[in-house]
Amino acid sequence: MQASASSPEALCAPGTGREAGTCIIVDVNYRKLGKTNFQVSEIGYGAWGIGGKQWLGGNDDESLAALRRAIAMGVNFIDTALAYGDGHSERLVGGVVRENNHRIYVATKVPPKNRIWPARPGVPIQEVFPYDYIVRCAEESLGNLKTESLDLLQLHVWDPGFLDRDDWRRAFEDLKKSGKVRFVGVSVNDHQPESVLDLVRTGLIDTIQVIYNIFDQSPARELLPLCQKENVGVLARVPLDEGALSGHMTEETSFPPGDFREFYFRGDRRKQVVQHVDALTRDLGIRNEQLPGIALRFCLANPAVSTVIPGMRKPHHAEANAALSDDGPLPAGMVEKLRRHAWGRNFYL
Ligand SMILES: NC(=O)c1ccc[n+]([C@@H]2O[C@H](COP(=O)([O-])OP(=O)(O)OC[C@H]3O[C@@H](n4cnc5c(N)ncnc54)[C@H](OP(=O)(O)O)[C@@H]3O)[C@@H](O)[C@H]2O)c1
Repeated sequence: MQASASSPEALCAPGTGREAGTCIIVDVNYRKLGKTNFQVSEIGYGAWGIGGKQWLGGNDDESLAALRRAIAMGVNFIDTALAYGDGHSERLVGGVVRENNHRIYVATKVPPKNRIWPARPGVPIQEVFPYDYIVRCAEESLGNLKTESLDLLQLHVWDPGFLDRDDWRRAFEDLKKSGKVRFVGVSVNDHQPESVLDLVRTGLIDTIQVIYNIFDQSPARELLPLCQKENVGVLARVPLDEGALSGHMTEETSFPPGDFREFYFRGDRRKQVVQHVDALTRDLGIRNEQLPGIALRFCLANPAVSTVIPGMRKPHHAEANAALSDDGPLPAGMVEKLRRHAWGRNFYL
């Protein structure tokens, strides 16, 4: 890990103190993002929630305040997608990035043309990622972000059947040649880390984005060591399991009608979550409020992870998450204990 201190001045910018007259001084650590060589903050910003269409109950003013707070704390990596609120997340992100005169890296994604997440095996690439469509989406993202070049363009799903197809390979190559895209990556289907092992071995992609958290530790078996060996950057996504590891969930937790979490945590799933979280906090001897910090530091304890990208629409979440970079990765003994709490299941289905 390469460490560098964020400037106290940035944290003391007008209106950014936690309390009037108080500045927060933290050391945010930065890691190399694989072949991109970008030095990215180990706590990145997941910008799905601020798209506003699938995560409800937030608002743009609060989202923008959270994003600005994260950046003021030293966060310099943001993960968004064309599909997040049909470009709304990209437009918010682009606006905030332009307010800053230091380097902030933005990753975005090409949605599957058939709008099916995750990719279904055997569906022809022409229906998911044809050449012209990838190029068109990249151009749309450039427009939303109001930039000349995308730092990182990812395919939003992956099926191993795409591996030998020409479409995505040529589109990525041509976009890079034209300067519209600097680096390319793939976001792995939910809970299918092994589906991209051959892709990583091709050497054609610079980063992988994968679900990695206390409950789904499966990437640590093969994918993360392989990425480290191949110098492929790793974005650890959904580190709080969509809120299951936030420390706030009870059996009575409810979500606004139409929010994606109504589906994700439907039926007796909140009860299951509470049981698993209780077992976890008891075993570690921690309070629920400590759980999100432990969950994020768990991801950072794996040296293959370049950045962990929690969604955070509330400024106090952005502040708490960015600040814990100061605490360093979890000690090995605690990581070892957490291995027992892996919980194999797929709530996206
Ligand atoms: N297929 C894909 O490529 C894909 C799929 C899913 C996600 N992603 C990416 O991964 C990112 C992260 O995943 P996610 O946003 O779905 O879920 P997540 O990061 O696992 O969880 C987000 C939830 O945790 C809460 N939270 C954040 N920090 C907290 C803290 N310190 N204490 C308590 N609660 C806290 C957030 O609250 P508030 O929002 O209220 O602040 C939000 O409800 C996304 O934003 C997106 O960039 C990619």
